[in-house]
Amino acid sequence: MIGGSANNAQLADAGAAWWHDAVIYECHLPSFRDGNGDGIGDLDGLVASLDYLGSTLGIDAIWTGPFYRSPLLDQGFDVSDYTDVEPTFGTLDTFDRLICEAHARGLRIIIDYIPNHTSDQHPWFVESRSSLMNPKRHWYVWRDPAPGGGVPNNWMSEAGGSVWEWDDQTGQYYLHSHLKEQPDLNWRTADVRTTMLDVLRFWLGRGADGIRIDVAHMLMKDPGFRDNPSAPEGNDNMFDLQHPDFGSQLHIHDRRHPDTHEVLAQIRAVVDEYPGTVTIAEIEAMPWEDWARYYGSAMDGMHLPFPFRLLETPWRADLLRFELEALYESMPDGGWPTIALGNHDRVRLATRLGAAQARVAAVMLLTLAATPCLLYGDELGLIEQAVPIARQRDYFARATGGVTRDPTRTPMPWNGGPNAGFSTAGESDLWLPVAHNADDVNVDVQLTNPASFLSMYRDLLRLRTASSALRRGKIAFLPGTSSRDSVLAYLRTSPIDQKIVALNLVDAPTAVRVPSAGTVAISTTARGAGETVGPVLRLAANEAVVIDVPKELRHEDH
Ligand code: NOJ
Ligand code: CA
Repeated sequence: MIGGSANNAQLADAGAAWWHDAVIYECHLPSFRDGNGDGIGDLDGLVASLDYLGSTLGIDAIWTGPFYRSPLLDQGFDVSDYTDVEPTFGTLDTFDRLICEAHARGLRIIIDYIPNHTSDQHPWFVESRSSLMNPKRHWYVWRDPAPGGGVPNNWMSEAGGSVWEWDDQTGQYYLHSHLKEQPDLNWRTADVRTTMLDVLRFWLGRGADGIRIDVAHMLMKDPGFRDNPSAPEGNDNMFDLQHPDFGSQLHIHDRRHPDTHEVLAQIRAVVDEYPGTVTIAEIEAMPWEDWARYYGSAMDGMHLPFPFRLLETPWRADLLRFELEALYESMPDGGWPTIALGNHDRVRLATRLGAAQARVAAVMLLTLAATPCLLYGDELGLIEQAVPIARQRDYFARATGGVTRDPTRTPMPWNGGPNAGFSTAGESDLWLPVAHNADDVNVDVQLTNPASFLSMYRDLLRLRTASSALRRGKIAFLPGTSSRDSVLAYLRTSPIDQKIVALNLVDAPTAVRVPSAGTVAISTTARGAGETVGPVLRLAANEAVVIDVPKELRHEDH
């Protein structure tokens, strides 16, 4: 009856940490809530949202987005002082208040750690570029021109164009994997490591509960700076390109260097000085066996490597099952996965899949054997909002003609008031324009509607919290239907609880055989909770359902 169940006994052995049971919420700070009326979201606004996030929605941990001193060319991923708060977002006192108020509500705070690059305005870089002999020269990656002149090698930046920028004053190029205003730090320089590890101590000592490491796979580059090979024809990945230049080559020498794992283990060792803190690594999509290496050879690497490969899998039952089984099979003993289906760099889920399937995706996100990571606004079914060029903030696109990420990052709609309750500023001063349908898609309006996206998310979050099978149980994939794109189904089992999850990924009714009958706990359609269904389960078009299996019908062998 059970087809191709993943070997996930290790899930049960992963021990107990708060983040095993947690649901993480990605808040993109400038877009979340403006506390001081200047049109830009900030830490005060986040503090004012904690009751919503905790008691109303029911998530457990907030990934904040960057709030360090920054010229804000990359929404704060261009840091000019790692140990101070950007005044646009607040002060160190506001950060301390955030920690205090969050902890008082049982919420954890995960902050961004941006070790690969600084802003070109960072005093370290200003010093580094001031002369060839400056003691900070080797804090960044400087190279002479190629023997025949021109850039040292062919590496392409994610923001488009070469990663090398010429510096007239000192007659060398510096490396920037993103914008030219984001020079890469040189993690092969011992002082960079010690200083950047102390940055971690600064924030973890102030009470942060964990870090999300920006582009963790990029920290070490090929020391020989070899050219990347060209990408074969048709290699483009529609989800992975900020700029077509970037996709023109295979990035085998500028990122994912094996030495990266040694640096990540050093970062982890510092994190371990603060018991109970978690490391999430942003790493690009890669084969699962490479992804699994980010846990560390002795589980001394990252707690939660981000699964971008899953975000990039077409929405088809057989392909998703294939990737999920590969994920679980490649996970090392003692490892624990995190799952995300969207983030601030990608197309919004409800735009990519449509509203009906975004509901199905919500059920998947919150019922897999993994710590779910949910992007702000996805709980409302927020869609992409076109942003006119004059209002765009994503400097990647503005500087080099790449794809703008602004439509994903429009303000959180809180209510039907001016600026959807995001800010009291004038409309033209808003960080980004509010979604055009914010009168219908906002927190207040959805709270009053039991059939809304938000009500569904709240129900799902409560179901997950109450179910040991959904939080900690093993997962076994079920056969689904003969149609390769339609049904993804799985069984979640803990010693005291069993749930069947069936997701109809297409816009047509179907039927699937599940291991036993049970009662509906949640459905994305009008089907009432408590209805008895199965073992032949008829699913409506776009229906996702979670079924509670009564004790006497449970399959103890799965
Ligand atoms: C990954 C972040 O998610 C993205 O938003 C940012 O532009 C780059 N890293 C550079 O820091
Ligand atoms: Ca503000």
